[in-house]
Amino acid sequence: MRALALTVALALAGCAPDRPPAGVRGDPARGKIAVTQYACQSCHQIPGVPGSKVYVGRPLEDMARRETLAGGLRGDQAGLVRWIRDPQSVDPQTAMPNMGVSERDALDISAYLLSH
Ligand code: HEC
Repeated sequence: MRALALTVALALAGCAPDRPPAGVRGDPARGKIAVTQYACQSCHQIPGVPGSKVYVGRPLEDMARRETLAGGLRGDQAGLVRWIRDPQSVDPQTAMPNMGVSERDALDISAYLLSH
């Protein structure tokens, strides 16, 4: 399973994401790999990430243009990182699980999401 995930991750890494907006920290290319490792695409449709068309959570597109996120959180990078790491701290009722995402992975994932 790990080997498969790595193979998929390496295949995905071949296609570089767009640049994130100025001021965004983290590594979007690494974030794209992290997204597949945490299997965010099992619940979200994510631009550039192959996966089934799933709509458990909303598609994660146009994230750079969002003013607010789930739970009324500000849609900036800090808000995204907070949500990805601990959605229940924002909205105790949310159906999105806490997946134990590390600070660095959350930063890179948010950089990837903000680069679309
Ligand atoms: C088990 C399904 C599930 C998984 C896995 C999952 N999410 Fe979610 N996610 C949700 C749901 C459901 C919501 C909507 C939450 C709400 O409004 O309470 C959500 C909301 C979000 C939002 C806010 C979207 C918006 O439009 O405001 C972001 C960003 C997000 N998820 C990112 C991620 C990332 C990154 C991962 C992987 C680390 C991930 N999610 C994994 C179910 C999931």
